[in-house]
Amino acid sequence: MKEKNALARPDQGLQRPGFSSGFGVLAATLGSAVGLGNIWKFPYLTGANGGAGFLLVYLLATLLVGLPVMMAEISLGREAKANPISALQALAPKGQPWWLVAMAGMLAAFLILSFYSEVVAWVFAYVVKALRGSILSSDPQVTEAAFGALISDPLQSLLWQWAVLVFIGGILLMGVTKGIEALTKKLMPLLFLLLLLLCAVSLSLDKAAEGLAFLFQPDFSKITASVVLTAMGLAFFKLSIGMGTMMTYGSYFRDDQNIPLTTLRVMSADLCVSMLAGIAIFPAVFTFGFAPAAGPALVFITIPAVFSQMPMGQWLMVAFFVLAAVAATGAMLSLMEVPVVILHERFGLSRPKATLLTLSLLLVLGASCALSNSALADFKLFGLTMFDLFDFVSSNIILPAGGIFIALFVGWVWGAGKFRGALTNHGQLANEKLANAVFFLLRYVSPLLILIVMLKGLNLF
Ligand code: PFF
Repeated sequence: MKEKNALARPDQGLQRPGFSSGFGVLAATLGSAVGLGNIWKFPYLTGANGGAGFLLVYLLATLLVGLPVMMAEISLGREAKANPISALQALAPKGQPWWLVAMAGMLAAFLILSFYSEVVAWVFAYVVKALRGSILSSDPQVTEAAFGALISDPLQSLLWQWAVLVFIGGILLMGVTKGIEALTKKLMPLLFLLLLLLCAVSLSLDKAAEGLAFLFQPDFSKITASVVLTAMGLAFFKLSIGMGTMMTYGSYFRDDQNIPLTTLRVMSADLCVSMLAGIAIFPAVFTFGFAPAAGPALVFITIPAVFSQMPMGQWLMVAFFVLAAVAATGAMLSLMEVPVVILHERFGLSRPKATLLTLSLLLVLGASCALSNSALADFKLFGLTMFDLFDFVSSNIILPAGGIFIALFVGWVWGAGKFRGALTNHGQLANEKLANAVFFLLRYVSPLLILIVMLKGLNLF
């Protein structure tokens, strides 16, 4: 019953904010895409899934599936100028429940925020550890012990996570998102420069060549169905697609924004950051004897080793973790935006109330991830801790499934004419050929490809 009322569109007539400049659009979209996915998830998944082969599949997934779905989501959002639920309702023929995709997206936002906030918690804790100088070492035993001590301490894990969540909630409640975005815009180039510096140092290490070979010379025997699914899930996670985030951001896009160009720029910049992170990490992994398949710990145990080889390494490492936290903040704000805007526009809550409700749910749900390496280490479903389960279900199930439906929606319901109109700004941009090609992918290729990869990867056929 409640649901019915909610779907009566209390959002109609609400004033919506929008991005004021073309550059603002690019910066905010990039701010959502670039985050711990580049610095933490990409390296650790690449390491755990055999290196270059995984990278290759990830690149293919980004081009064949990620890019079209991202353009589709942004187009739908801008066309409807509404939250994902209202957008899908407004654009779909009456009575067709496409808005369920947005509900699944909201669930994904909660799951991702729950484990993502814990990784940001580790980053916060590492800023303090770096300041104290206690982790600057190239000895795997030292850096592994430091990380292990952090994640196996329930109190530290939980308190840092709550600090992160309150910090993000505070930004939203104080309505300073715009200011934070402006700050992020200024600081992101610094992260880029620092990563370049890290790469230079890493490339001068003894076994740099081995690290690069791991990252760039594919061993095709390592590409299994589950590796392909993981790589595709990463492509979705990286570009923040499949769950309504880009649809929400698209709804703030200006009408004269060139959607394909923005998408291509975001994707390229995002890939660059990931590649730099990979080049910074893998030479060090091989030189100092870390395990490439160390899992979520990888960045936290290897990065201190690279900094230990630099003059002023301690201070640069402080800067690195601060900048990583800044990058993560943009991604978390975009994740929070999905439930907050839905609760606000569709369920009639004020924005502060919507934020507080989201935050309260996260404090509880997130705790199950924060404690996954300590108090709840033995609490498993399908053999996975809550941290791993939330990650797996969101990246490998909800986001790709969301991608299938978004592609099908544009390809078969919304139609070629409207999609072309969105990508060409109704004939003002010469993107026609590109629009046709992307439409073909959305209609025939992406949904089928995602479906096959999911079924095979999940061992369902
Ligand atoms: N793309 C972000 C990253 O790679 O860190 C994570 C993310 C943000 C995923 C927003 C999904 C999302 F909606």
